[in-house]
Amino acid sequence: MKQLITTTLILLLLHLTTTTTTTTTLTLDPKQLAALHSLYIPTTQDPCTHPTTTTCDSTTPFRHLTTLHLTNCPTDLTLSTTTLSTLSTLTTLTFTNCHVTIVHFPSTLTTHLTTFTSTNSLQHLTGVFLSRFTNLTTLTISGDYIKSSGVHVITSNMKSLNNITLSNTNLSGSIPKHWNPKLTHMDLSNNNLNGTIPTSLTLLDTLKNLNLSSNHLTGEIPTSFADLVSLQNLSLSSNSLSGSIPGSISGMTKLVHLDLSSNQLNGSIPRSISEMKGLKYLNLGDNNFHGVLPFNVSFIKKLEVFKVNGNDNLCYNHTSVLKSLKLGIAKCDKHGLPILPPPAADGPGSSADDMSSGDYDDDDGGEKKKSGGGGGNGDDHGPNKVVLGVAIGLSAVVFLIIFLVILSKCGGRCCCCCC
Ligand SMILES: *[C@@H]1O[C@H](CO)[C@@H](O)[C@H](O)[C@H]1NC(C)=O
Ligand SMILES: *[C@@H]1O[C@H](CO)[C@@H](O)[C@H](O)[C@H]1NC(C)=O
Ligand SMILES: *[C@@H]1O[C@H](CO)[C@@H](O)[C@H](O)[C@H]1NC(C)=O
Ligand SMILES: *[C@@H]1O[C@H](CO)[C@@H](O)[C@H](O)[C@H]1NC(C)=O
Ligand SMILES: *[C@@H]1O[C@H](CO)[C@@H](O)[C@H](O)[C@H]1NC(C)=O
Ligand SMILES: *[C@@H]1O[C@H](CO)[C@@H](O)[C@H](O)[C@H]1NC(C)=O
Ligand SMILES: *[C@@H]1O[C@H](CO)[C@@H](O)[C@H](O)[C@H]1NC(C)=O
Repeated sequence: MKQLITTTLILLLLHLTTTTTTTTTLTLDPKQLAALHSLYIPTTQDPCTHPTTTTCDSTTPFRHLTTLHLTNCPTDLTLSTTTLSTLSTLTTLTFTNCHVTIVHFPSTLTTHLTTFTSTNSLQHLTGVFLSRFTNLTTLTISGDYIKSSGVHVITSNMKSLNNITLSNTNLSGSIPKHWNPKLTHMDLSNNNLNGTIPTSLTLLDTLKNLNLSSNHLTGEIPTSFADLVSLQNLSLSSNSLSGSIPGSISGMTKLVHLDLSSNQLNGSIPRSISEMKGLKYLNLGDNNFHGVLPFNVSFIKKLEVFKVNGNDNLCYNHTSVLKSLKLGIAKCDKHGLPILPPPAADGPGSSADDMSSGDYDDDDGGEKKKSGGGGGNGDDHGPNKVVLGVAIGLSAVVFLIIFLVILSKCGGRCCCCCC
């Protein structure tokens, strides 16, 4: 009997504890709740139900934070190492427009994070500070200056890194030679990087996006660039690259966006570029390319953006219909050299020229998106409107005459009737 009572009691207790644990699994660890409170994140409602700011795991008896996005923070927000050490369950930490000065991040947090982002946020970042985030797969720093002797200081111990953006961070030095072979995204744009593009980058055969624009890179585009078979976006614009475009570039069959503008590239433009079937954006402007532009109209019209202007020794073949595309380059003489246009003929004069040469008229409809303005269309509309106006005017006059004739006849009849 006594035994029976004790078992019932134990069962009852068990039941009670299970019910209490099921209710407590819904709440966040009180220490983390206090940490969020100190970061001015509203905690009156369960923070785990705000997926734009946080995500949580479902551990018992308390849930823990896995993601934290700090956005548009109040100006008096400060980070503290104690707060950060209670947040070491995070795998993703993001700062956006959150101007705070960094403090020591405990290693329990830095080694646990897989995604770390600071966009116009953290102040006094250093390469050494960032190098401690050894488990990152995604690192994004944009618009925040990093004091460091080079990118390699930051990345050399990040063995799992597959997505890196260090853009507008005032970094100098050269581009590291060694990267995780599974890297898919590299954006080092808008820094002070110098030296050449390492040939070893062409080993990154899973790379989809490479943006090295607006740096001080010199030397040539490696011929082995064609080995970047997964590449979709390539921007090397606004550097000091020289030499010619390797003809093998068409080996990058997935390329959608190719921007080589504002360098000192020379030689002739390889015709093989037109074999890249997926290409939508092609900017080769402001370089030193020479010779005859090797593209036909059907290739150029397929592109959403096409720019070759700012290449003084480049010309288009006058015998082709390319003339109507207003490419911003001169036409070629029979030797393939640019015929320098008379100074005034560059602006509106050339469009008047287009109007007068009937050969290209049937092509005028499709090319306007490339001409960078509706000027040509306006010219077409002018005469059309005049014709329409004259037609309407003439029909009005004809109708008036008919009406008057009918009226006069009717009036006569009416008169007769009256009589
Ligand atoms: C590093 O990240 C992986 C998940 O990508 C995780 O399994 C591992 O525990 C992390 N390492 C540390 C030291 O936290
Ligand atoms: C940017 O980097 C250069 C060195 O490349 C340094 O001289 C300069 O002080 C840095 N600017 C700022 C605002 O930190
Ligand atoms: C390529 O760049 C465009 C425009 O910047 C972007 O929308 C697209 O997502 C990029 N593609 C890849 C694979 O990064
Ligand atoms: C490359 O970076 C520059 C500067 O950050 C940006 O304007 C451009 O859109 C990027 N290009 C691509 C293809 O993502
Ligand atoms: C292109 O420029 C390089 C130096 O930048 C020079 O050695 C080469 O002769 C030039 N090639 C042509 C075809 O102008
Ligand atoms: C234009 O060039 C492309 C690529 O070189 C080629 O496949 C196509 O046949 C050409 N079209 C015409 C009309 O010449
Ligand atoms: C221009 O094109 C015509 C026919 O398409 C060709 O016969 C001529 O050789 C080309 N001229 C130059 C300078 O390439």
